[in-house]
Amino acid sequence: MGKKFSLFIVALLALNLLISPVSAEDLLKTDAIFGTPEIDAEKDDIWDGANVIKTERYVEGSDAAWAEVRTMWDEENLYVYAEVHDGSLSVKSENDWEQDSVEVFLDQNNAKTAAFEDDDGQYRVNYENKQSYGGVASADNFTTATKTTDFGYVVEAAIKLASAASEGTVFGFDFQINDDKDDDGVRDAVIIWNDSSGQSFQNTSGFGELTLVKEAAGDETPAAGEEGEKLPNTSTAMYNILALGLVSITLGGFVLFKMKKRTA
Ligand code: BGC
Ligand code: CA
Ligand code: CA
Repeated sequence: MGKKFSLFIVALLALNLLISPVSAEDLLKTDAIFGTPEIDAEKDDIWDGANVIKTERYVEGSDAAWAEVRTMWDEENLYVYAEVHDGSLSVKSENDWEQDSVEVFLDQNNAKTAAFEDDDGQYRVNYENKQSYGGVASADNFTTATKTTDFGYVVEAAIKLASAASEGTVFGFDFQINDDKDDDGVRDAVIIWNDSSGQSFQNTSGFGELTLVKEAAGDETPAAGEEGEKLPNTSTAMYNILALGLVSITLGGFVLFKMKKRTA
C-alpha cells in the first residue's frame, strides 16, 4: 500500500476514535417497571418483565463478585431484586462495607449533589440480611430479604420513598457489590453499575439514572418522551455505523483503484 495512503487511513481511524461520542464512563440509564413484588428473596413472575442491569465497573480490585439487578416501583416503594454471583461468602470484617454485601444508592430528587442531601440514601445489606445505612436510609425505610444460592446470593429489597412516586420520575440510582474474596476480613474488590469514583456514599453526582415507567421491558410502544431520552444511544450507534461505512468505502475504493492500475 502507498505510504501516503496508509497514513491517510490511519489518520482517518484516529480521527474516528477522537471525535467518537462514546466515552468509557457513559452515564448509564435504566427503567424500573411498575408493580409490587413480595419481599421474600424469591423471584416472583412479576420480575420477568423487568429490565436487567449488570455491575461491570470497578471501584477497587479485580475479579469481583457481580450482580444482575432488576428494579420495579409503585407509589410507595422502589424495589430491587439482585442476583449476586459470588463464589465464596464472608462476613468476617467488623466493617459493614467490607463484608460481602450490596449497596443501593438513591438520590430521590436526582440533584447530583457533591454532598448528600436529605433525600439521599445509602442502603446496604449483607448476604445474611444484616442492614446498615448512610444518609436518609434506616430500618424504617428499608425492607430486605436474602438467601444464599448455588451461584452466591439473592437480595430483594424495598426502599420506601419520601413522597408518592409517579410515572416519568427520574431518580439518581446506583448499585454496588462489596467482596471479601479470601475471607480475611479485608474487602478485596468493589464493583458498581455506574459510579466508579468510590464516592457514592457521600456524593450523588456520579450515580446512574433510573426512570419510573408503566410498561414492562421490551414493550413495543414507548411512552411519550422516551424516544427523545434514548436519542444519545441511537445517534451514537448511527454515528459509528456511518463512520465505519465511510472507512470501508474509502478502503474499498482504494483497493479497486490499485487493482485497476495494475491491470491497466
Ligand atoms: C464505600 C466505603 C465507605 C462506606 C461508608 C461504601 O460504599 O465503598 O469505602 O467507607 O461506604 O459507609
Ligand atoms: Ca438528592
Ligand atoms: Ca479479603
